[in-house]
Amino acid sequence: MSFHLRPLHERRDLTDECIRVINNEWPRSKALRLHSLEKSCSTLPYSLVMTEVSQNEEKKEQVVGYCRFAKVISQKNSVLIETVVVDKERRGQGLGKKLIELAENYAKVSGYDAIYLSTYDMMKFYEHLGYQYCEPVHTFGAQMLENSAVLSGTNTPLPCDNLDETFDEMKEESPVPPSPSSSADISPTLVMFWMTKKL
Ligand SMILES: CC(C)(COP(=O)(O)OP(=O)(O)OC[C@H]1O[C@@H](n2cnc3c(N)ncnc32)[C@H](O)[C@@H]1OP(=O)(O)O)[C@@H](O)C(=O)NCCC(=O)NCCS
Repeated sequence: MSFHLRPLHERRDLTDECIRVINNEWPRSKALRLHSLEKSCSTLPYSLVMTEVSQNEEKKEQVVGYCRFAKVISQKNSVLIETVVVDKERRGQGLGKKLIELAENYAKVSGYDAIYLSTYDMMKFYEHLGYQYCEPVHTFGAQMLENSAVLSGTNTPLPCDNLDETFDEMKEESPVPPSPSSSADISPTLVMFWMTKKL
């Protein structure tokens, strides 16, 4: 097996599989995902798809992971990584580590010298991969905007040029105020941790 990281805008044929992998973790409508993924282009933000290619004659290519790069404001040599996800069926096999390594390499080749991310529950995973805790940074990341709308304890992101996408997602997710039972799933004290790694 070999693994590759493909920019989605160069491999639109992988879009449906990509949506399957992302929606297995964070369910949204297909239309909403398409709307978001179609925006991937050579300038930030853009989507990266990890595929696994079988080494037999068939050379079958399968989507096994996804992540997205977005802009870090005021640090033109840094990039935000978000929506990091490995296919549910394939976790615990080293693919998450592979995805981050490929993304780091992609960022480095693209001229970035640092990666930032925010997480509220995967700190150990990233610590394991050499990420260190840091101060929050302002980003154009849609995920961050979405999280900050839902959770407390985050830093406030600046307005961004993909607000339409973000607000579409927020509208779809919160058409009515959350009921006590659903809001109980999200701790009001949940805190985002920021982490970074020099490349
Ligand atoms: C987080 C995620 C990408 C990890 O992918 P994975 O393929 O299961 O991880 P790997 O098998 O590559 O694990 C790499 C290493 O990290 C460790 N690790 C993986 N998940 C971990 C976790 N939740 N906590 C602590 N360590 C973890 C593994 O033990 C492994 O250690 P090793 O190298 O010593 O064996 C995957 O679980 C996922 O898609 N989760 C849902 C989406 C998500 O939460 N994304 C992160 C948003 S910030």
